[in-house]
Amino acid sequence: MCGIVGYIGQQGAAGILVNGLRSLEYRGYDSAGVALSDPQDGFRIIRASGKLVNLAGKVDLTDPTPLGIGHTRWATHGRPTEENAHPHRSGDGQVVAVHNGIFENFLELRAELKAAGESFRSETDTECFPVMVSHLMKGGRGFREAFREAVGRMKGIYALACLHASDKNRILAARSGPPLVLGLGEGETFLASDVVPLLPHTRRVIFLEDGDLVELTREGARIFRLDGSEVQRQVHTIPYDPVAAEKGGYKHFMQKEIFEQPQALSNTLLNRLPLDGEAIPLDLPFTDRDLADLTRIHIVACGTSWHAGLVGKFLIEQLSRVAVEVDYASEYRYREPVVQPGTLIVGITQSGETADTLAAMKEAAIRGARTLAICNVMGSTATRQSEATILTHAGPEIGVASTKAFTTQLAVLTLLALKLGEAKGTLDPRLKAELLQGLRELPAHLERLNALEPKIVQWAHRWKDATDFLYLGRGPCYPIALEGALKLKEISYIHAEGYPAGEMKHGPIALIDKTLPVVALMPKDAHREKTLSNLQEAAARDGRILALVTEGDTGLAGIAEDVLELPAIHPWLAPIVYAVPLQLLAYHIAVLRGCDVDQPRNLAKSVTVE
Ligand code: F6R
Repeated sequence: MCGIVGYIGQQGAAGILVNGLRSLEYRGYDSAGVALSDPQDGFRIIRASGKLVNLAGKVDLTDPTPLGIGHTRWATHGRPTEENAHPHRSGDGQVVAVHNGIFENFLELRAELKAAGESFRSETDTECFPVMVSHLMKGGRGFREAFREAVGRMKGIYALACLHASDKNRILAARSGPPLVLGLGEGETFLASDVVPLLPHTRRVIFLEDGDLVELTREGARIFRLDGSEVQRQVHTIPYDPVAAEKGGYKHFMQKEIFEQPQALSNTLLNRLPLDGEAIPLDLPFTDRDLADLTRIHIVACGTSWHAGLVGKFLIEQLSRVAVEVDYASEYRYREPVVQPGTLIVGITQSGETADTLAAMKEAAIRGARTLAICNVMGSTATRQSEATILTHAGPEIGVASTKAFTTQLAVLTLLALKLGEAKGTLDPRLKAELLQGLRELPAHLERLNALEPKIVQWAHRWKDATDFLYLGRGPCYPIALEGALKLKEISYIHAEGYPAGEMKHGPIALIDKTLPVVALMPKDAHREKTLSNLQEAAARDGRILALVTEGDTGLAGIAEDVLELPAIHPWLAPIVYAVPLQLLAYHIAVLRGCDVDQPRNLAKSVTVE
């Protein structure tokens, strides 16, 4: 949903900005642009429609100008053309701005500014900002004063950065909604929509709060509120290695992130698996009494994270007997949810910036719920607006299709379910020991999955031209069927649906014929026999079954066209293991179809608009 970068220092800004945008490209790739402060006067604004590579080809990366801002766009208002690409400037060319978000009152402001004699070049909502700043300056305000007043006039959500042609000593920026992070260097200061572009330069960062206005200079940053009062924000040191956000020899980020899952899970579980007889050491600000008093849990999330929520419901209800509802965040926020005393809202979000999830969590909090975020990004809005956070520690996820964030969410949800079971006194110690042992073994099991890749590549070759796929699963593997279908459709553009296997006969069975691949998840669990019968029904109608089963399970011989045997694991942890081959299947099909795996069309990783 658009990425922003800014640099003021001693080095050439062009290379820093373009490289920064490269690591933010997952946020939008409809167009991109930079504005470099010209040593004489004015700016050099360079923009290009389409992917960043188009912009990179137009910018002299060795340009020594030490001040500039940049943007990569996911189009909201206005088509993804060069004219609509950011940065935008005022009619007199004196003010430029980049913006992530939406100015909801832009039509009104545009009309007001036009009536006052200002002119516009683009169709975007953003342009009214530099025009407003310039207009206020014509009325006698200085740059900072005009910036502050203009920010006060904007309604909606924004992270924005702004330059003035004759002021070579500052970048002004503001945040209300989408994230904005400052990077503090020696004699140089950086700005970006997340920490990743900052990592090659500094690990010292400040996460801006909503309503913050900031003045970046070479010496550092001063943060103000709209009323002009100055505030101090904590400086964080980010532990990530910059290499974590690079492809490291893999063809795509998604591929790298799929293969990183054993390590990611080890990181998630580090220091969170208790020794025998100890309690689950989840660092939460809730007392055991608080947890024991919970009567309901509402989980809100979007997309892949919502699928994790469905597995979470299964685990939490089984282990703690607390009733769980799982909602699409975009539905929950508008359906006047009934939040009874004793409700905990759990928002699951990789980015911590998904607008619907944040709004749904706020809605529940207003209605009296306690709040917990399960999130991958330290310092993100979800972590800051919640009472409690469990970080998934998957490391930066750059591929637009979520992979390691999902499996680490599942591991965290397992721990949370165990913790709740302990607090409620419903946890069978034997079951706890089995699940903990299963979690310990998980990274090694996932390593073993690598050996299955050649078979998955064969499946991909055989089925890459299919027009539809059906995914089936039961119990905790039903959400994995949904996730497998989502992975395939979002990166390969093949239509796919996930269904509970038992539901197949209530409709989808009509689709089954010899052209329809049916991907079936059938671990050895309480549902196996039932799933087997459903698959027999599909086979009887010539369905082409590709099955994922537990090692040594020969029950599908003569029924399935092909079978992938996966390590034996506790059935409630099977979702984590079964998700991985489905990620690989989607990945290889998309690659064979020539799709842009890391940046699928029309998508953006961090959906900061409704
Ligand atoms: C799919 C995918 C999306 C996200 C969804 C929520 O692969 O990545 O469906 O899961 O946009 O994003 P977060 O988890 O950042 O809130």
